[in-house]
Amino acid sequence: MELLDPKVYKYLDDLVPPRSPEMKLMEKYADDVRFPIIGPASGQLCYLVARAINAKSVFELGSGYGYSTAWFAKAVQENGGGTVYHVVWDEKLSQQAHQHLETLGYNQIVQYQVSEALQALRSAKGPFDLIFNDINKEAYPESLPLIKKKLRSGGVLIIDNMLWSGKIFDDGDKTPATKGIREFTHLITSDPDWIVSLVPIRDGLIVAYKK
Ligand SMILES: C[S@@+](CC[C@H](N)C(=O)[O-])C[C@H]1O[C@@H](n2cnc3c(N)ncnc32)[C@H](O)[C@@H]1O
Repeated sequence: MELLDPKVYKYLDDLVPPRSPEMKLMEKYADDVRFPIIGPASGQLCYLVARAINAKSVFELGSGYGYSTAWFAKAVQENGGGTVYHVVWDEKLSQQAHQHLETLGYNQIVQYQVSEALQALRSAKGPFDLIFNDINKEAYPESLPLIKKKLRSGGVLIIDNMLWSGKIFDDGDKTPATKGIREFTHLITSDPDWIVSLVPIRDGLIVAYKK
């Protein structure tokens, strides 16, 4: 379900500057096979935040075939270099990402790991400047204490699907994914260590600053 008039989504996406042919190809592939990438407007916000905090180390949980990774890699490259960790549990998606990100010129920046994402973050050294979370939604609540531990003070967490196509408003929806999103939202907004805003672009992104 689209929560806003489709004109609004199109308008927001159209405001994003033109992307490279490879990025356009990744966007078309998502449309063709209905793969849930973050899309241009959310990608631009991720890029903006990563540039604004001068992020040099970004850890992504649930990276797919590298579309969101490309936005963070662009920011990190323009910030003078660093690392974006691409983590997904599907080998084929990791390989697809490798090809796209190599074509985009981010080979020096992106590190790949085929793994359950929370397990990978648990073993990662950190602290990170920015963590992006887009994993299975029922795991969102348990991800928060770990993310808090691995993010530096002054770092930013971005987490996708916080409006969940409006399913969060349906009191009858008690599925683990919907419950996970509701619970995560409650946990982070009631924790005084975070400054939180839910930005209602696309499927809703929480952007949270760790004090
Ligand atoms: C919604 S897609 C997002 C893709 C990417 N963030 C983007 O916007 O381009 C989430 C991806 O993460 C993977 N995934 C979901 N939960 C995961 C987990 N716990 N550990 C590793 N990968 C996970 C899914 O298989 C899928 O490929």
